[in-house]
Order: sequence, then C-alpha cells, then structure tokens
Amino acid sequence: MTRTIKIGIIGSGGIAQAHARSYLQMPDVEIAAVADVVPGRAEQFIEKLGLTRAKAFDSHLELLELDLDGVSVCTPNVAHHRTSVDALNAGKHVLVEKPLAVTLEQGVEMVQAGKKAEKILTVGFQPRYDPNMQAVKDIVQSGQLGNVYYVQTGGGRRRGMPGGTFINKELAGAGAMADIGCYSLDLALNALGYPKPLSVSAYTSNHFGTNPTYHREAEKFEVEDFGVALVRLEGGKVLNFKISWAMHMDSLGPTLFLGTDAGLKLTPAGSGPWSGVWDGGIGSITLFHDIQGHHTESPIAVQKHDRNIFYEKVRAFVDAIQEGGPAPIPGEEILINQAIIDGILRSSAQGREVDIVIPEV
Ligand SMILES: NC(=O)c1ccc[n+]([C@@H]2O[C@H](COP(=O)([O-])OP(=O)(O)OC[C@H]3O[C@@H](n4cnc5c(N)ncnc54)[C@H](O)[C@@H]3O)[C@@H](O)[C@H]2O)c1
Repeated sequence: MTRTIKIGIIGSGGIAQAHARSYLQMPDVEIAAVADVVPGRAEQFIEKLGLTRAKAFDSHLELLELDLDGVSVCTPNVAHHRTSVDALNAGKHVLVEKPLAVTLEQGVEMVQAGKKAEKILTVGFQPRYDPNMQAVKDIVQSGQLGNVYYVQTGGGRRRGMPGGTFINKELAGAGAMADIGCYSLDLALNALGYPKPLSVSAYTSNHFGTNPTYHREAEKFEVEDFGVALVRLEGGKVLNFKISWAMHMDSLGPTLFLGTDAGLKLTPAGSGPWSGVWDGGIGSITLFHDIQGHHTESPIAVQKHDRNIFYEKVRAFVDAIQEGGPAPIPGEEILINQAIIDGILRSSAQGREVDIVIPEV
C-alpha cells in the first residue's frame, strides 16, 4: 500500500511552479513546506498555487527541521550544492534541478552526502522521459549501429540568451553549457551508457552576451554564449559537443551517432519535432518521427497539459521514494556531465587539451 509522501520545495521561482503543479496531481503526495530566501516569496507561492497545508519559510534549514520524505531543490544553480547537502544530511531524499552544481567539487560533495545518508539524489533532466530519447538509447544500446565511434550533439539557438542569475559566473557556473548544454550531453552520454570521459579540447566565447546590441545586461555578462568541444571517451569514442545561446546561424547541425554498421541522425534541438533517420547497409529510412508528439525543453507545458515529461520526472522521484530507490537519474552519473563542463571551461581558459579526472565518491 502506498503512503503519503511529504515534500518540501526549496526555491519558489519559475521552475518550482512546474514541480508544485506536478506534485498537486499526485494523490499520494502532500506539499508540506516551501522555503525561499526572499522574505514573503514562499507565502506568495503557497497562496498562488493554493497549497493550503504548506508552511512557508525564509530558510531551507528551518524547512529541513520538518518531518519530510523529500525535497525539490529549485534554487538558482549556485544554491543547489548547499541546499542539497543540507537536505541529504537531514535525511531527506533530493530531486535537484539541472545542472547538478556549479563546480565539479560541489557535485562530488553532493553525491558523497547522498551516499553517506543513503538517500536518493536524482537530477531533474525531464527529456529522459521523452520516448524519443528512450528510442535513441534503445537503438544505440541494441548494437544495430555496430561500434559507435563518433557522436556529434548540441543545441543551437540563434537568439536565446537568458539574463539574471543565468549570466553570472559565480551563481550559474557556466552559461549556455550549464543551461541547455547539459541536456545535449545527457542525450549523447545516456545513449552511450555514460562512458568515462578522458580528455577535452574546447573553445568558448561570449561575443553576443557582452555586446549591448544583443544583450540588455551586456555589462554583467560573465559566461559563455557559445562553446565547442572535442571530448575523448573511453573505448576509443569521441564526442563533438557544440552549444550556442546566440549565433548568426539557424542551427549547429543534427545530432549524429556514427557506428561501424550504421548511423543515426536526429533533428537538431529546437528545430521542430523529433525525427530520426537511420543510414546503414540497409539504405536510408525514416526510423521514427516525433513519438507521441513530445518535445523536450518545455517545462511550461506542464501548466497546460495534465501529464507530460516534466510530470514524469517528478513522479519518478516519488516512485523511487515509495519503492526505496534507486535514484531515477543518479547524481553519480550526472557527475560525468558536470566533469565534462568543468573540463571544457578549463580547456578553454588554458587554450589546450586537458585531462578529465572524476574523483572517487
Ligand atoms: N528543468 C527545466 O526545464 C528547468 C527550466 C528552468 C530552470 N531550471 C533550473 O531551475 C533552477 C531555478 O531556475 P528558475 O528559473 O526557477 O529560477 P528563479 O530565479 O525563477 O527562482 C529561484 C528561486 O530560488 C530562490 N532562492 C535562491 N537561493 C535560495 C536558497 N538558498 N534557498 C531557498 N531559496 C533560494 C530565489 O529567491 C528564487 O525565488 C535553475 O537551476 C535552473 O537551471 C530548470
């Protein structure tokens, strides 16, 4: 028999609403508390969403004193680390929004805290619940492509730079890579079974963000709006990763998986519905096209539709709590994603290839 799962929400801004709306659809979940560092914001959130039984706090530490099963961490990136570690130490399961953390060291500490507390630390990548993404993984893992030796992926926005905390290095950690690049990395690495990264040679720039013609907060813009990296992976594989918040081009090209027996090409992110084209010894056929009409990168859709991939990700967290684990998208796995972003930033700063070393946790 399922029991009622008590949830706290830490950070009550934009994405917290999608978490709350998902939990509100679950009869076995009670949102018991909301915390936000801006005084009064948690109360407003509770009122707006009609969370009649929830208590409001100005500090996540007070929220963590309650008897809760789990928390959704919905703060800006910089606060993921402190709030998640405190929550795990307080014996709560954690669903943390993406990206995992701002630095690799913080990510390591978060995973260590989860292991020590024997609690779930799962990362909020809703595209994992997109059946198209599952189809891609199934094809790659089935071996039908043969040995996949080259993957090219990345999202390319022509004009899509956020502002505020997203462009502050200390608060966000990285720019386009932390915001949208982590999704593309997860698409590629998840399909490959998260192989170990060995080294990376990367270039990043911010020609658009720092130019007042293109960004209204140009003087505050500290992160990259474009990045490209060649990542060597274990098993003789290589990943060509490209990302942009802004550029004079419509796309950075499709995602490609090149194998010794066949290749798989996917529609570039943001360029319309998913489709996959398979090209191998059997010729070229359309393999799938926008399964179930799902789209990635659209949490707002949860406000319009009853159920979507955002709901699925939040539900997977609750199911894992009900069933005693494991984490649906383990922090340990996403540490690899964080280590690649860390390597890209180091390589770009040093102007040369650097090793990627993931500490033991
Ligand atoms: N999964 C997705 O599709 C998706 C979409 C957008 C944003 N995000 C992620 O969600 C996170 C939040 O983004 P957002 O757009 O909701 O930001 P936001 O600025 O709208 O909201 C963040 C809230 O957290 C509060 N806060 C800051 N530090 C805090 C702390 N220590 N304790 C409690 N509250 C604190 C802020 O006052 C603010 O109200 C980011 O990490 C972002 O990358 C994910």
